[in-house]
Amino acid sequence: MLLRAGSLRLTGALIALGAGFGLPAAAEPPAPPPRAPNVVYAKTCGYCHGQHVAPVIRGRAIPADMTQAIVRRGQRAMPAFRPTEISNAELKALGLWLKASKADPKEREPMENGQ
Ligand code: HEC
Repeated sequence: MLLRAGSLRLTGALIALGAGFGLPAAAEPPAPPPRAPNVVYAKTCGYCHGQHVAPVIRGRAIPADMTQAIVRRGQRAMPAFRPTEISNAELKALGLWLKASKADPKEREPMENGQ
């Protein structure tokens, strides 16, 4: 009898838990907080820039609006990035950070023979 009452209580708890997880499926998940510009650069831009693939862009005081335009539109071999990949707020901060950034001595220009 004791056991039976206990398992009933457990079943009730599981149903409550299930109902909790079944909440608004239609609700949009909250937008993630913006990532810091050096993080976006390291994860997305540095993959090509400074790695013998694309020109070095740090330490060149590239205007922020030029960076924003190139990132949204792409430029020749460089792909465009959508707001779902880099949010407007992140891109704005990235442009300002890049303009003020110092050259990283570890970064390299693309080699002429493409190696
Ligand atoms: C897949 C490789 C790749 C990625 C990733 C990439 N780029 Fe580029 N980017 C390039 C290439 C290649 C060029 C040179 C395009 C050309 O020939 O005009 C370029 C050019 C640029 C230029 C102009 C440089 C100049 O000398 O005129 C800027 C600014 C720039 N990229 C910013 C960024 C930023 C900011 C990011 C990260 C959000 C990024 N890029 C990610 C490949 C990439």
